[in-house]
This record gives sequence, C-alpha cells and structure tokens, in this order.
Amino acid sequence: MYIRRVSTQVKIQELTIELKQHNYNYYVLTNSTISDREFDVKLKELEKLEQAFPQYADPNSPTQQVGGDITKNFNTVPHSTRMLSLGNTYNKEELLDFDARVAKLNGGNAYQYTAELKFDGFAIALRYVDGKLDQAITRGDGTHGDDVTTNVKTIRSVPHKLKGNYPPMLEVRGEIFMHKAAFTKLNEGRAKNGEDLYKNPRNTAAGTIKMQDSAEVAKRPLDGFLYQLSEHGKEELDHWDSLKRMKEYGLPVDDATRLCDSIEDVWTFIEYWDTERKNLSFEIDGVVIKVNGQLQQQEMGFTSKFPRWAMSYKFETERAESRLISISYQVGRTGAVTPVANLEPMQLLGTTVKRASLHNADFIADLDIRLGDRVFVEKGGEIIPKIVEVDTSNREANSIPTQFTPACPECETPLERPEGDAVFRCPNTQSCPPQVKGRIEHFIGRKAMDVSSLGEGKIDVLYQSGFVKRAADLYALDAEQLLGLSKSIANEDTGDERLVSFKEKTVENIISGVEASKNISFERVLFGLGIRFVGETVAKKLAFHFKNIDAVIAADFETLNAVSEIGGVIAKSVIDYFNIPENREEIDRLKVAGLQFQVVEKELASNALDGAKIVVSGVFGRFSRNELKKLIEDNGGKNVSSISKSTDFIVAGDSMGPAKKEKAEKLGVRMITEDEFARMLRFD
Ligand code: IVH
Repeated sequence: MYIRRVSTQVKIQELTIELKQHNYNYYVLTNSTISDREFDVKLKELEKLEQAFPQYADPNSPTQQVGGDITKNFNTVPHSTRMLSLGNTYNKEELLDFDARVAKLNGGNAYQYTAELKFDGFAIALRYVDGKLDQAITRGDGTHGDDVTTNVKTIRSVPHKLKGNYPPMLEVRGEIFMHKAAFTKLNEGRAKNGEDLYKNPRNTAAGTIKMQDSAEVAKRPLDGFLYQLSEHGKEELDHWDSLKRMKEYGLPVDDATRLCDSIEDVWTFIEYWDTERKNLSFEIDGVVIKVNGQLQQQEMGFTSKFPRWAMSYKFETERAESRLISISYQVGRTGAVTPVANLEPMQLLGTTVKRASLHNADFIADLDIRLGDRVFVEKGGEIIPKIVEVDTSNREANSIPTQFTPACPECETPLERPEGDAVFRCPNTQSCPPQVKGRIEHFIGRKAMDVSSLGEGKIDVLYQSGFVKRAADLYALDAEQLLGLSKSIANEDTGDERLVSFKEKTVENIISGVEASKNISFERVLFGLGIRFVGETVAKKLAFHFKNIDAVIAADFETLNAVSEIGGVIAKSVIDYFNIPENREEIDRLKVAGLQFQVVEKELASNALDGAKIVVSGVFGRFSRNELKKLIEDNGGKNVSSISKSTDFIVAGDSMGPAKKEKAEKLGVRMITEDEFARMLRFD
C-alpha cells in the first residue's frame, strides 16, 4: 500500500512536469512536440489521479490552468474575464454524452446549438473603445495575456474602426490563423534561402504575432475570425444574434456557422466539414458547438477551465497505411544528412504521398523501422507527412535493423556525428556536390544576392558543366560560354525530366542579375556566404557591429561573443568558417569582383520595409502613387511592377483591377490600404 502511494505521488509529479513542459512548448515556444490527442490522454490520466489523491495535486497543475503564452517581450495586461479553453470530444458517443448533460442542466427545456468551425490558430481578445481598436491581447495564462496590438493592427481583416451602432466599450474574442497558401509560400521562400522550415500554419501564426518587428509581421499575411462577443454593454444577446451583430460592426465572422435544432443537426455539420475541410484555404482541427441561449449559457456556467455550454469536437488526424520500400539520404547545404522514407504511394487528405521524413538516426532507432515494414502515416497539423507507427508484428523473421548510412550518398565521404548532435554530417564541405550547389543556391537567393534569373536547375547545369564551382565563379561568367548550354534535369519526386536551356534572353538576364548583385548591401552578402547559424538577423547584427568583412574575419571568439545576441555557437561557427582557406580565398575573389564588403550608411528614413517587394496599385486619396513609391524606397523597400509569388504585399487603392485582386488572393499576397501602409511606417 505504502509503495503504491509513493509511486502514485511520483507519477502525478512526473505527469505534471511533463504537461507543463508541453504547455510551454505549445504556447511560448509555439513548437509543440506532442499531438493534441496524446496531450489530452495524459491530461485525463493526471485528472483521474488527482481526483483519487488530491493531497498530491500541484495547486498550479496543468489540469487547473489554460496553458500560457506570456513572453518576456510584450506588456502583460489583465483580461476582462478569464479566457477559457474548451473541453474536447473525439467521437459521436462523447458528443451525445455532452448533449445529455446539456439536456439535464436545462431541466427539460428546449435549446439550440450553434455549430462553428474550430480554427487552428491562436486565441485573441480585441478591445474596441469608442469603435476604435484599442488593445489586442493573447490568451496568455487565461487571466493575463501579452499586448500584441501593434502586430494585430497589421492584419487586414481586423478592422481598426467599427461600423454601425457600436457600444462605447466592446470586447470580442476569436482566432488568428495563417492561410495554407501563405504558409506554403513562406516556407518556399525559406527553403530557397536555406532556412529551417516552419512546421505548420498554427505555429507559424502564433510565432508571427510574437515577433518584435511589426513590419516583418505585416509581410506574413495573417487572417482571423471572431466567435465570441465578450463585453457588449448591458445588452444580452443569444450567441447566434451576437455573431450577426459582430458582422454588422464590420468584424470578420465565419459564414460557415449554423444554428442547429438538435445534436443530430450538429453531427451532420461535423460529418460535412470532416471531409470538406481539405477544400478550405485554412486549417481547422474540429468543430465547436455552443448552446445558443444566452440565459441558458448563464445558468449552465463554467467548470474551473471550461464553459459547460460549449464543447469542441476534434477531427481524427487522417492516417493511412503504407510500406517502407527504401530509405534515401538527402544532403543539405550544411552537410546535414536527412533520411527520407520512400513509401508505397497512398492517399492522404486528398494528396498522393510517397515520401516521409525520417528526421535523423535517433528517430529511425526509436521507431525501429526496417525495410518492408508496414507503417502508418499521418498528416496532422504538419504539412509534411509523418510516420507515426511501425507495425513490427508482421515483419519477416530475417529482417535486419536499419543502419544509418555510414558514408555520404553523394561523395562517399564517411559521415560524422558530432557529440551531442542528432544529425550525421558529411565533412566534405568543399567538394560534396549538394553542399557546394546548395551554398551557391543560397548565395543567389532572394534574401541574399537576389539573382532571380538563376535557380536550382540552372545552378545544377552550370555546376555540372564546370562553369560554376563556387559563388565567385558567377562573376567570371560570360555570355558566349553560356549560350546554347542545355541539359535535362530529373525531378526527384516525379522522376520527370525537364530541359534546362540557356537561351539569349535567359543569358542576358543572368549576366545583368549577377552584375546588379554587386550593389547588394554587405549584410546580405554576409548572409549569402552561408555561414552556419548566421541567418539574416545575425548577419545584420555582425555587419552593423563590425562595419566591414575584415573586422569580422579579425574578430576572435571573445570579441564575437561580446556582440549582443551572438552566442558561443555562432561565434565558433564564424571562426570555423574563416579558418577554412578556401573560404578566405573565395572572399578575396568576391572582393575583386566588386561586391559590397562594408556597410554603406544609406540615408534611409527607416529600414521598416527592409527589402520587401511591394506593388502599388489603384488610385489613392492621401498620397500620390509617386509619393508612395518614394516612401517605399526611402524606408528600405523595393518597388515592383507586377504581382508574383515573391511579392510581399500590395498597397491597394480604390479601383484596383479585379484581375489583379484575384491574382493577389490566389497567390496569398496581402493587400493593405494606404492608411495601413502609413501606420507601418509609424506615420499615424
Ligand atoms: S469558443 C469560452 N469557438 O479552440 C469559449 N473557440 O480548444 C472559448 N477555437 O480556446 C472558445 N475556433 O482558441 C471557440 N469557433 C470557435 C473556435 C475556438 C477555434 C479555439 C480557441 C479555444 C480553443 C479550444
């Protein structure tokens, strides 16, 4: 008995610590490492144990709290009323149980439900004072949240001013999210620049709203829907009517919401959206049902965490079965070797899946995945499918454990795994083809030298033909050499061959793009070198601190480490990079070619737009088009004439053509008004 008690106490403590950590990962780091379902299972287990042994329960147990996303960098402000979460159901039976509880609590009186989509983003409270957006607050720990007003003001669908007959004080709550297309576009840009990819739209949206730089937030289109009228003078409205009212004020409210007379109607709604969700432009992870009657809601009240009058129904993450045919290994620009599972093709959420990432050697060992194994693949919040389970029961008796490839699949150099690192790397940094090509691709990327006429395919041809082995070779190219060059390149995923050829116009663009890159600022050149851990922000820090490349090269570990936000890992990586003779030689050649290796103090009004590509379109009232264009240049942005995938946003005036609008929406490019633009530059 005694032993059992002790182990229960330990179990409660362990679960409490674990769940607190998951909450921290989810809300603060916005990078969850556990599925919602697994989290709920553990939370329920803890709840049960705490009920049986209340003496061991932590007063701040995750069962008593609603996560928490308060971070250090924003002002923390109190919520007007607690911002609660919802109870979850996962099947029809649990949903019917909820309906039975509602019926009982209502003592046999009739009731209706609203059925709403459950948007997969993060919760926000908006306060309007005299119709003007005054404060936007994250959920935080439910009682206090972060004041992220400036960032929320960059979201186009959130009105800064209400319409109609609004009360002097209004608080609404809802969810902010990122559309799937915008997320994919953001990740494509990151992939091109060799940056780590974001995991899913929800994490990205939550991470974006916590960025310190609102101009950066404005470049990442967020959207949102409001679903709760939280403070609205003395008037008591049923939920359905409150949604209508919010719409009248000009607030974004989702049109998919339905008023349902019975739980069966709710079920029809759930079944419809469970299949239809794949056609939505944003992600939903379930359906939220709420008792419609305001008085009924009041009578039913709340538990310590949830309203008793609302419930969420979570969709199953779609799972499919397949078989592991082979494992291939991909080598990235930094030499990291990523194992990829080649699977028998299967259908998952409307797309054909044939590959899944196996992440690293530890992941393979944990799953004990072997060739020929039956595997289960899920596409939850993540865009990249994930192997979640391996069926070891049906495996052949002679199957052998997977050995991570000992040598680089590209250059056969034995791989290394540095102490404490989860990743195997190919140490042949100077001549392993994907590393060399990857560095050149990174160098010409949009955020570095921005030679858009060159891409992966052309770099591949130039590399294979021997013209470009290092970035500096780009500056020695001449048109004659390139004309007529062509090669067919196979697409890794589809196996389709595509001809990459260098026609006159292409060659002209390459030569002029390379020439133009000589004007690219030092911090972007430094970023373009592809030094490990030196991303855009770190490159800027180093450039503006040291002012020129010679000072960066001369800096020792202590000097580098003393620069704000430059830690030991970055400092070591910078030193390692410049210790390689080939890298020093490369920089000398780039200097001779005429690239910028020192900071030119430009007379900019601000750097608020920091390289953003902006289209000005339509007719304006406050500024002339030329004034807008000058403002863009003066604040570090770039004027571009036509809308493309790489456009960051559009300053849209009246009578902007419908075709342009449609194109912008299709490509997920944000449109902002001239007033929003002025606010971005801190004019208002
Ligand atoms: S109502 C007291 N409605 O899901 C009622 N929440 O898992 C609070 N969510 O905290 C929420 N869509 O962040 C509500 N249509 C919707 C929702 C929704 C998404 C989020 C919200 C909530 C979480 C609960």
